[in-house]
Amino acid sequence: MIITLAHTKGGVGKSTAAWHLAHAMKLLGKVELVDMDFNQTLHYVNIMAGRPFTVHQPRTVAELYELISRTTHDVTLIMDIGGFDSDLNRAAIRHSDHVVIPITPDRVTEVLGFRTFDAILSELDTVDTKFHVLFNNVHTSTRNFDKFKKAIKGSRFTILNSAIRSRKIYYSTMGNGESVFSSIGNVTAQTEILELRDELIKTR
Ligand SMILES: Nc1ncnc2c1ncn2[C@@H]1O[C@H](COP(=O)(O)OP(=O)(O)OP(=O)(O)O)[C@@H](O)[C@H]1O
Ligand SMILES: [Mg+2]
Repeated sequence: MIITLAHTKGGVGKSTAAWHLAHAMKLLGKVELVDMDFNQTLHYVNIMAGRPFTVHQPRTVAELYELISRTTHDVTLIMDIGGFDSDLNRAAIRHSDHVVIPITPDRVTEVLGFRTFDAILSELDTVDTKFHVLFNNVHTSTRNFDKFKKAIKGSRFTILNSAIRSRKIYYSTMGNGESVFSSIGNVTAQTEILELRDELIKTR
């Protein structure tokens, strides 16, 4: 299975979600990471963590295809692509089973930026790829998502029921090369990430 965290807008939480989701997936089986982000966030956090994952960094579409073709079916690939548009990023999206698009719903620039990304997605000839919007970095007091759902509705994607709240633990653990599943983790955050994992697995 290939799960790609994608959004042409930077800073929406792709790398953060990829890192914690990878740990949740690892509780179930083999996981490898694909870091195509210019900033190499996963590459560096994985080093800090003592290299719990193999991190691939394909530089060309040919290298990406080669990686995908030699990855066995028992491995979940979690791909973190950069916050920009490129042929490489488009190729990653087209070959994904799930594309997860993090958005902070009450940040108007992210909602507007999503329209640009959605227009790019409309140009891709995907067949089996499932697109999901993930509400990320949501204030812990936000309960009703209806108005945000209305602002981004579209037929290409589903809006995930799982949402990730704004929590310091997501970046404080990463900053130490850890995840929310480490000893200094947090059960509420773990539950959010496990719900995201299970929702993605279920919609396969
Ligand atoms: N749920 C969250 N709670 C708190 N902080 C968050 C959350 N998600 C992301 N952040 C913070 O927001 C910032 C941007 O997140 P991140 O680097 O994961 O975004 P990105 O989409 O990968 O960015 P880029 O496109 O630049 O690679 C980081 O400082 C991160 O710690
Ligand atoms: Mg990133």
